[in-house]
Amino acid sequence: MTIDLDWKNLDFSYRKLPYRYISHYKDGAWDAGKLTEDATLHISEASPSLHYGQQGFEGLKAYRTKEGNVQLFRPDQNAARLQKTAERLRMVSVPIEMFLDAVKQVVKANIDYVPPYGTGATLYLRPLLIGVGGIMGVQPANEYIFTVFAMPVGSYFKGGLKPSNFIVSHDFDRAAPCGTGQAKVGGNYAASLMPGYKAHAAGYSDVVYLDPATHTKIEEAGAANFFGITKNDEFVTPLSPSILPSITKYSLLQLAEERLGLKAIEGDVFIDQLDKFVEAGACGTAAVITPIGAIDNGADHHVFYSETEVGPVTRRLYDELTGIQFGVIDAPKGWIYTV
Ligand code: PLP
Ligand code: COI
Repeated sequence: MTIDLDWKNLDFSYRKLPYRYISHYKDGAWDAGKLTEDATLHISEASPSLHYGQQGFEGLKAYRTKEGNVQLFRPDQNAARLQKTAERLRMVSVPIEMFLDAVKQVVKANIDYVPPYGTGATLYLRPLLIGVGGIMGVQPANEYIFTVFAMPVGSYFKGGLKPSNFIVSHDFDRAAPCGTGQAKVGGNYAASLMPGYKAHAAGYSDVVYLDPATHTKIEEAGAANFFGITKNDEFVTPLSPSILPSITKYSLLQLAEERLGLKAIEGDVFIDQLDKFVEAGACGTAAVITPIGAIDNGADHHVFYSETEVGPVTRRLYDELTGIQFGVIDAPKGWIYTV
């Protein structure tokens, strides 16, 4: 390791690394794709990604193992989700193999920036697909850019396994009932900026969105899915057509059942029935597992396990998930890709 960074105290912020991958789609085909040191994009002022939000992205991480190797966690799932996002916005598809190859190239080219094992930090990868070229009407682009860049990161929510407090949004939704909530598109995040701003200003870590049709059920947070643990040893997470199908959430559903002996349930999580949960958390690539100390819903300040301590089941889930990601615990078949 030649790079000298304060690995243990990294936050989740942009850092320009030496190399990123870029490929252009033009005249019906992707070019060969290459690594470049140029961290800027030069695109038409009339690109549909700029005007009509025709873009999508992914987020995944590379992990340094105890032995010093580097591995990816379920990158095939990110590749497949980007294809679904592309389909929803009538963008061209990035082939799975091309996605995986690009990610591996970027990790290898910036290998000195994959944080050391034991620091808790990881290399976050951001694949991005944008519609470019001069198109003025509301229609899909003819040309696209697929790029993957990376940066070393620490916790997304301050404090890692320290509980965070969230607030329910009643005035704003992040997605519409049949909108793009399931796709990883910038527009969903643009919709979350105002409620997110207000939540942060009031001291909360993130917003809890309710289902946009009835405002009675938890959907997800601004940057992560939600889960709760009941006193009957159930791992419950919302099932909704307008939330992001989180790869972390599906991994936890499987681990909860297979490794922790919990009953894993995807179903309705009514906001007026939080009493049934003895623990709650937010999960995602950036969030990992962040315990939710309390959710504020109007006058109701609902504390789950504790506002200062992580609950025992949440901790076991965290240990299992991160143990697999960092190569300390055997992974279910096909989850780990070595770089
Ligand atoms: N929900 C939202 C809105 C997100 O931004 C993320 C992060 O990617 C997630 C959920 C978690 O998804 P994943 O576990 O695939 O990272
Ligand atoms: C991720 O967890 O990868 C995300 O995309 C969440 C957020 C940083 C947008």
